[in-house]
Amino acid sequence: MVFMYNLWVKNMSRKAKKTVCSFRNMKRDGEKIVMLTTYDAPSGRLAEEAGVDILLVGDSLAMTVLGYENTLPLTLEESLHHCRAVRRGAPNSFIVGDMPFMTYQASESEALKNAARYLKEAGCNAVKVEGGMQMIPLFAKMVQAGIPVMGHIGLLPQQVLTAGGYKVAGRTEEDADRLMAEALALEEAGAFCIVLECLPATVSKRIAETVAVPTIGIGAGPHCDGQVQVFLDILGMFDGFKPKHAKRYANLAGDVHQALSSYCQEVREKKFPTEEHSF
Ligand code: KIV
Repeated sequence: MVFMYNLWVKNMSRKAKKTVCSFRNMKRDGEKIVMLTTYDAPSGRLAEEAGVDILLVGDSLAMTVLGYENTLPLTLEESLHHCRAVRRGAPNSFIVGDMPFMTYQASESEALKNAARYLKEAGCNAVKVEGGMQMIPLFAKMVQAGIPVMGHIGLLPQQVLTAGGYKVAGRTEEDADRLMAEALALEEAGAFCIVLECLPATVSKRIAETVAVPTIGIGAGPHCDGQVQVFLDILGMFDGFKPKHAKRYANLAGDVHQALSSYCQEVREKKFPTEEHSF
């Protein structure tokens, strides 16, 4: 009986889904963490099948999928809707819901209730919020309430209007020290991971070596404990613009243009459908 139970436990742990502890263990073991934004069921499914460790339903959804100019217009309902779709496509993945602008800044109680919706209604495992020192009390409250939270410091896209654009952070010694202090404070408040966006590689190296919590970089060099990229950027789905931090692993925009032109042409020339596609 004990033997059967042990076997069951062993099988269960072999198939175990990732938890917040998995990422700290990966950092401890020197294993890089792969995170990718996903926005719907097909992208979630493909990312899960490829073995991505963390699926982030980023608020970049606003620009990449919904056609807004920046991330600010994204609503809580839009974000939750896409998180649910990713969960349906990726039933076994660790999914982080990225809380949109003004869904957590106005009041602590509103932030807690909104964050809980990601876990209770959208099947997410955690939420992400942007910000440094000013967010620490909220961070601690969320973690105490049982909500796993991912931090995000450096370039903060939700601050684009106050910052006057998208700017690399941590270029001066003073700013680098501020980011270091923010990372330590986030760790102390209970963040399970911290995104470092657009910082000099030397600054993120110092942060990654100082904190025990995993750091996930985007435009923050190779020393972070993991990397995150935007689904459409690495697949080359925007042929006009490529951010400096992104590498294209495919040129889907070119392939899609070509496929759609062929479809238009074949319908017009009466080459499609053929008997093969008819009943
Ligand atoms: O929304 C997003 O895509 C993000 C990543 C850049 C980390 O927050």
